[in-house]
Amino acid sequence: MSNDSLQAELVDLLLENAKHTTYQMLPPCVKDQDNRFGRLIGTQRQDEKRYDWLKSNMPSLTGRVIDIGANLGYFSFRTLQDYQVNIVAYEPYKPHAKAISIIRKLCDFEAKQMKVVDQGIGLREIEALPQADLLILLNVIQHAGEDYDQDLVDNIQNWRSYAVNYLTKLRSKADKLFFQMGYTWLGYAGKLCKDENIIDFTASLLVDAGWQIKSCGIIKDFSEPFTYQNYDIALTTHNKVFLPKQNRNFFFKVKRKVLRYPKNQAMSYRFAQRPLWFCEK
Ligand SMILES: C[S@@+](CC[C@H](N)C(=O)[O-])C[C@H]1O[C@@H](n2cnc3c(N)ncnc32)[C@H](O)[C@@H]1O
Repeated sequence: MSNDSLQAELVDLLLENAKHTTYQMLPPCVKDQDNRFGRLIGTQRQDEKRYDWLKSNMPSLTGRVIDIGANLGYFSFRTLQDYQVNIVAYEPYKPHAKAISIIRKLCDFEAKQMKVVDQGIGLREIEALPQADLLILLNVIQHAGEDYDQDLVDNIQNWRSYAVNYLTKLRSKADKLFFQMGYTWLGYAGKLCKDENIIDFTASLLVDAGWQIKSCGIIKDFSEPFTYQNYDIALTTHNKVFLPKQNRNFFFKVKRKVLRYPKNQAMSYRFAQRPLWFCEK
């Protein structure tokens, strides 16, 4: 198949609209010369900055990487490009899983370098995962109870013990974990913790699951161009969270309604405050 037909197929897949569509960017190995993908891909979730932070905390890596909730495979492809590894990418939404396979061809990677599995990983599926050197688990676990394992997390009070259990089981599968999560349960039903406690909350979750926190990445200053910096976290006292200021000015609100752009920007900042975690067991 030519690159042109592969790109056309990718466009069709990206047009299939689902909850996590337009989430990730395409990896840089996809050359979008005709600007075919522009509005079909996400740009607000700091993919490049998140990956740069991981890379700066992980000078070397070999072996196998498992990406749970790979979406379009941005992190899988970047890792494959930069390290001597092979990848297993799990993505239960079939159009996305298919998209990852097409991107793999567009980027000239072989199937033996990256296996794509169109399955989700719930608590009961962890056992069957292969052994890996790095696990990537970004922004999936807060969806337990909605996207998966609805029977195990039927209310917000069950979520924390479920998550500790899930992260504990993952420890038997890999030495290293790159982790990020959201803090609203079911996207609307309630907050897992207060905004000002997201660092304390996640640190204790990881520690209770037996992971050693090697680094935590946060954005302290939200003026552009911002980057994630390592933040020395304390395990026994409160860790300050740097929240971007929301603009409540009347003209800003009107502009936001008319132009829509600042709304995206606000969303982008909200996402950017989610800390990144690099852990070892
Ligand atoms: C919020 S997106 C996060 C994407 C990506 N990990 C990131 O942070 O850029 C969640 C992704 O996980 C997938 N997903 C949902 N439930 C899953 C499960 N049980 N196992 C693996 N992936 C899952 C969704 O289809 C979606 O692509």
